[in-house]
Amino acid sequence: IKTLAVLTSGGDAPGMNAAIRAVVRTAVFYEKRIFGIKRGYDGLIEGDFEELNSKSVKNILNLGGTILKSARSEEFKTEAGQMKAYEQLQKHGVDGLIVIGGNGTFTGAHRFFEAHGVPVIGIPGTIDNDLFGTDYTIGYDTATNTVVDCIDKIRDTASSHNRLFFVEVMGRDSGFIAMNTAVAIGALDVILPEQNKSYEDLFVEIEKGASNKKTSNIVVVAEGNKLGDSFSIANKVREHFPQLDTKVTILGHLQRGGAPSCFDRVTASKLGVAAVEGLLNGRFDVMAGMVDEELTYTFLQQAVMNKAQLDPEMLRISKILAI
Ligand code: F6P
Repeated sequence: IKTLAVLTSGGDAPGMNAAIRAVVRTAVFYEKRIFGIKRGYDGLIEGDFEELNSKSVKNILNLGGTILKSARSEEFKTEAGQMKAYEQLQKHGVDGLIVIGGNGTFTGAHRFFEAHGVPVIGIPGTIDNDLFGTDYTIGYDTATNTVVDCIDKIRDTASSHNRLFFVEVMGRDSGFIAMNTAVAIGALDVILPEQNKSYEDLFVEIEKGASNKKTSNIVVVAEGNKLGDSFSIANKVREHFPQLDTKVTILGHLQRGGAPSCFDRVTASKLGVAAVEGLLNGRFDVMAGMVDEELTYTFLQQAVMNKAQLDPEMLRISKILAI
């Protein structure tokens, strides 16, 4: 392998820039050429390449977002799109591709490897933490710290007014952000995609909170839960407990922004180095990840299909502490 290219795809995540920096500097260290591809797979298809060097990535370690920009490409899902992408790599002499992203990014990368044999390696970059084969995805730590900071602020006003708040957090169909932040902010309850929770279950917890005369109650709602969106959940709760002053806050995309935490910067730096070294050592169609502090390579398909599992112990802890 002589020439590498790196792209970011899917939802951006804090720490992606730290990963780009690590990839570029490792490539330079091993005396390889390295291109940055703009706007994910869309830019790959359209030939939006820029050659990078170690100076191109100075002062980006601390920045949120991604300097390469990102996209969710529909065209890359088609054979024609993948063919165009392959031709662009050939044109630029790229013989190794590093993709930073989550589920969709890795699904596309795996198909690309199968169809065209392009040496490809993934770096887990998503706030959702939903990939198998790594304990932490880049961006998750920053996003959860942001959520905790926001809910602490909500707690101030909630307790001043004796209110019940439903706070909706991201995570798509995974409850990692919700579960961990629920413990971190001392939530009354948490509603997760992984649970089959009923309204009766929720009413029991709210009843407990009310009878314990708590001055503020916060329920963390994961966006992909099976009960519904946080406004409809709050409406049902209002019907059942008309005496409670119930509010909803959806944290939304602010969870994806901001400077990456120290942990995310370090993880991104480790995995950036590991991805380039993996490619140079013939590890293709895999994701570089950290499991129990050890560097691991997991097949892209497995990383996506096996899905990271929530620790049931967290739910138990959260219930004990919500008394
Ligand atoms: O995968 C990251 C994520 O932020 C999810 O938590 C969320 O469901 C989704 O992306 C939102 O996507 P978009 O920014 O395209 O609306």
